Parts: sequence; structure tokens; C-alpha cells
Amino acid sequence: MREEGLLAGPTIPEEEAFEAGLRPRELSEFIGQESLKDRLSILIEAAQGRGEPLDHVLFSGPPGLGKTTLAGILANTMGAQFRITSGPALERPGDLAAVITNLDRGDVLFIDEIHRLPRTVEEVLYPAIEDFALDIVVGKGPAARSIRLDLPRFTLVGATTRVGRVSSPLRDRFGVIDRLDYYPSEDLQQIVDRTAGILEVEITEPGAALIASRSRGTPRIANRLLRRVRDYAVVRGDGRIDEPTADLGLKTFEVDDAGLDRVDRAILSAVIEKFSGGPVGLTTLAIAVGEEPESVEDAYEPYLLQQGFLKRTPRGRVATESAYRHLGLTPPEPGQPSLL
Ligand SMILES: Nc1ncnc2c1ncn2[C@@H]1O[C@H](COP(=O)(O)OP(=O)(O)OP(=O)(O)O)[C@@H](O)[C@H]1O
Ligand SMILES: [Mg+2]
Repeated sequence: MREEGLLAGPTIPEEEAFEAGLRPRELSEFIGQESLKDRLSILIEAAQGRGEPLDHVLFSGPPGLGKTTLAGILANTMGAQFRITSGPALERPGDLAAVITNLDRGDVLFIDEIHRLPRTVEEVLYPAIEDFALDIVVGKGPAARSIRLDLPRFTLVGATTRVGRVSSPLRDRFGVIDRLDYYPSEDLQQIVDRTAGILEVEITEPGAALIASRSRGTPRIANRLLRRVRDYAVVRGDGRIDEPTADLGLKTFEVDDAGLDRVDRAILSAVIEKFSGGPVGLTTLAIAVGEEPESVEDAYEPYLLQQGFLKRTPRGRVATESAYRHLGLTPPEPGQPSLL
């Protein structure tokens, strides 16, 4: 069971299997993100009309919003195979060559965390997605020569939590670049309902609404919370999830009224107690709470910023008055330097 970082922490292998079972396979099953779905359905129909593979697509947005899911939907809808890899997994040009020489026409190659692709691999990718050709060097020293292999026309779908870190030559080679945004509560409630249906859990409307409201705009988190609440309901109740059960279940797992978990609160309390309210640099803060700087920046901080618990200043992160109040502490007097 996930102890820490229940909400925004990274997925573990056991959870990946659970998520895979929940992934919508068709655009019509994918809840919310209406305008993005519209654009994708036009893209699909146009490609189908021409009898051609899809254009290359880049999805960006915070973790858990459905980038991998959408890539899978594109492949499924096009009747193509879905091949998954990731930026960090493709260490050398040969790793990429091995993957792309196995593709068939129209296949969808999904590269997750594409902003972490090594530069040398990226350079092999350019001709592969632009001219559907692979330049490989055979031989060594003066006898070395480059030969060009033709590749079938495939579709690259890239995903990134940091579109700003995707190099511009790579970005420019995507026909479509689109962003996923946090989901409104109504959409998350539908997602909770859908998942409850798949898990065969009985849930009331207010129960689903409560879980949705604590899910920080993120389907992955909505599903995580539902699973924990279901366990609670089975062990402590009759298995049915109503509003009080959801509320008690979430309290047991230390998810508070604001939708913050233990790591979120550790971050706020570190800024306040160890760094006198800030400003504190991201890396220092991450070390203080025992998390990776990247996970603090990508997974925890966006929500704390959005909810007004943290502020970003040129000199680092600062706790706001609401952060003090949320932790039951007295904020420093306005205008006074923060207390030591
Ligand atoms: N719009 C949606 N409707 C229904 N379920 C969704 C939706 N979006 C995401 N999910 C579910 O949420 C989970 C996480 O989605 P997914 O893995 O696609 O996110 P991601 O954006 O790829 O995250 P990461 O950046 O961490 O790779 C999946 O189990 C998926 O089924
Ligand atoms: Mg993903």
C-alpha cells in the first residue's frame, strides 16, 4: 500500500496494471477535454479519409491527465499497433533504431517523457519522423560509411510534462501539439463513477462528488482515492461508498479537506518551519522532504501554487498565509520578516 505521496506520487508497478485496466479505448469513452477530443477526432477522420497514417502528435500536461491513454486511443482508432517506450529508456541511437525498424506502416510509436531523450538519439529521430529514413553508420574509422534505411510511415506520439524542455527542432517536427488541462470536478465525478462501475463498487452521487473534489483535477488521483476509499468501505462498512464513508476513508489515508496529502503538508511545513516561511530553492526544499526535485516541481507544487498555499518568487518558494492557517499555525504579521 502506498504510504506516502498517496495523491501525487509516482505510479508503482502494481498500480500501472490497475491503470491499464481502466484506460478508455475509444475517444467516446474518454471523459472531458472536449475541445481536445474534437481536434483529435478531426485529425483521425482526415487521416482515415486520405487512407494515410496520422500526423505526429505531441501531448503535454501534468502527470495523470491522460496523455498515455490518448496515445493508446489514437492507435486503437487507427487500427494500428501501439508501441510504448520512453525518453530515458532510449539511451543510445541503437535503442531507437531497434524499436523503429520493427514498426509497420501506420503503427503508433509512443515516446513518454520525450523531453528526456538524449541528444544523440534525438538526432536519429529527426530523419526518422521527417523522411521516414534511418541513417546508420556501419564500420569503424576510415572505412565507416553511412547507409540510409527506408522506414514505413509511422506515427510518433510524444508525451511530456515539460513542453518547454522539448528542443525546438523536435517540437517543430510534430504536426499537432496539444495540451491537457486539469479536469473540472464534474468530469472527475464522471471518471470516479466510471471506475466504480468497472470495479463493481456501489457509490452514491455525493460520495463520488466528494472524491472528485479532493482529486486535484487529476483522473489518476481520482482513481487512486476511489481505490483507497473502496478498501476502507469494505473493511469498515458494507462496501458501499456514500459521502460519510468517503470522507472518513480519505481522513484515514490522511487526505485532508483541501485535497492535500502527507507529502504536500510536509512540503508546506518544511518551508514554514525549516526555512522560516521561505524563500527556499526547489532543490533544498526537495531534499528537506526526501523527494526528487522533479517530483516536487511536477507533481506536488503545481497544486500547492494553484490553491494559493505556495508562491514562486525569483528567490525561491514562499509559504502564504493560507499555508500557515492550513497547518494550524499563526502567519507572521504582514510586513514583518518571517519569524525564525
Ligand atoms: N479523460 C479520462 N477519462 C477516463 N479515465 C481517464 C481519463 N484520463 C485519464 N484517465 C485514467 O487515469 C489514469 C492515468 O492516465 P494516463 O496514464 O493516461 O496519464 P498520463 O497523462 O499519461 O500520466 P503521466 O504523465 O504520469 O504518464 C489511467 O488509468 C486512465 O485510464
Ligand atoms: Mg503516461
